[in-house]
Amino acid sequence: NLAEQAKRVAAEFEFGPGNVRKAVKEFVREMDEGLQKEGTELSQIPTYVTAVPNGTEKGLYMAVDLGGTNFRVCSIQLHGNTTFSLTQSKVAIPHELMVAKTSKELFSFLAKQIENFLKAHHEDHYTATIKRRQTEGNIKEEEIFDLGFTFSFPVQQIGINKGVLMRWTKGFDIQETIGQDVCALLQKEIDELHLPVRVAALVNDTVGTLMARSYTSPGKTGTLLGAIFGTGTNGAYVEKLDKVSKLTQSKDAGDFDKSTGEMIVNTEWGSFDNSLRTLPNTPYDVELDAKSVNPGIQMFEKRVSGMFLGELLRIALVGLVKDPAIPLFKDENSSQNDVHSTTQIHEGSPIWKQWGIDTSFLSICAGDHSDGHRVIRQTLDKEYGISAVSAEDAEAVREIAFAVGRRAARLAAVAIGAIVLETGRLRSATASGTATTEDKEGVDPPRGTVDSSGRGEVAEEDVIDIGVDGSLVEFYPNFEEHIRQALREVEEIGEQGEKRIRIGIAKDGSGVGAALIALVAGRMTED
Ligand code: BG6
Ligand code: GLC
Repeated sequence: NLAEQAKRVAAEFEFGPGNVRKAVKEFVREMDEGLQKEGTELSQIPTYVTAVPNGTEKGLYMAVDLGGTNFRVCSIQLHGNTTFSLTQSKVAIPHELMVAKTSKELFSFLAKQIENFLKAHHEDHYTATIKRRQTEGNIKEEEIFDLGFTFSFPVQQIGINKGVLMRWTKGFDIQETIGQDVCALLQKEIDELHLPVRVAALVNDTVGTLMARSYTSPGKTGTLLGAIFGTGTNGAYVEKLDKVSKLTQSKDAGDFDKSTGEMIVNTEWGSFDNSLRTLPNTPYDVELDAKSVNPGIQMFEKRVSGMFLGELLRIALVGLVKDPAIPLFKDENSSQNDVHSTTQIHEGSPIWKQWGIDTSFLSICAGDHSDGHRVIRQTLDKEYGISAVSAEDAEAVREIAFAVGRRAARLAAVAIGAIVLETGRLRSATASGTATTEDKEGVDPPRGTVDSSGRGEVAEEDVIDIGVDGSLVEFYPNFEEHIRQALREVEEIGEQGEKRIRIGIAKDGSGVGAALIALVAGRMTED
């Protein structure tokens, strides 16, 4: 009975090949629509970044990063030979600041962290500027750090260091900030503390990831996409400038360098298909959305990213536990009337509370190959207050958790697949995509690389490079393999196309990426 019920729930999370194909088509449609006008489901935000780095960039920059699990402050020395050194500190954002009444509460906290970082890691520089300010009234231009501000929320960008918040995501909810320029808010707090720092560039984490990946692994074809699968999910990609018609045909567009004919576009794919034309919608998705701070938006993100997957599992499990006829976490001898007293779930277990199950538990479930799922049972006991879990119960939990995680990865493939198709990268092969050295007898052997799945050789010029970051893609077992399986199921991509897609982690990429954009921004102001 329990096994059947678990299978039934797991089946509700299936997202088969036909669903993937339909969603890819819809994604491509929404991409094109978003490039043409404002107010669409995929925001397709022009970033004003028109070139990706090539690894030769040099200099010392600062970056801050708000929007993942932690707030990070870093300084980055770019060495100019595709390498860099990074010094960083991170703190978790206090929850009360995420839902504060005023913007100032959050932004003054951020500025304070920058001050602490400067005192800890650049003390001589910091004290020298304090002294100069006291003696000469002002500091020198060359003493000011250019800072890249990675602000990982949807922002309507007006220029390289100017942009207004469109909406909060990932549980942040400070009404006052919406419609304000977040760079100005941060600069004001920095100035109040007299820090030698100028907010030179505003960067989404996906754009930072794309830049960092391009800097560290500048391939022949450049990196196409930077994607985050962490607390939230989103992607930024290189688009042809003439396709970004809402910008090129707008009278209000700020000034930018058009010479490359390209621009990085921040898709904000978390809001893909908010109207649920092609996304799955189980009763668990419906409940999660209804109880969220932003019902009806970020519908793709709510099915894909780390903030939400644990909650989907929790809702599904609680549904089973509350059904007296289903023997999940229940004492055999107990009466079946009162859920709380008859289960093996201790009172106060996080499973009863919204967000009570962390997505890291899904990774544990997917990675537990021990006899009788020992690790799952131990984790349920130690972290979730559920004792004496049987092997059958653990198997039921594993099956549902696995289904939630696999669906997330297959949805992630929708976004990746659509971008690969929309940008025409599969068509622009210089040679047959999967040609091996033997296939190409008589011509110069291509500079082969083993693709990341290790299944064969792809000529370097045929690689479609993607940089990824975030806790989910980093820690969820086989996330990439599930993505690849779904990509192969899309006819226009198939096995040949999937092999050409190289996915690489750009760890902590957005710090480096923000530094690179601050560098480009610095150059622009010099010109
Ligand atoms: C970090 C990036 O490594 O990953 C951040 O530098 C990004 O900018 C983050 O937001 C996403 O991961 P998570 O799992 O913390 O949301
Ligand atoms: C959310 C944000 C987006 C960010 C993503 C990953 O979707 O809206 O800007 O890139 O999370 O952190």
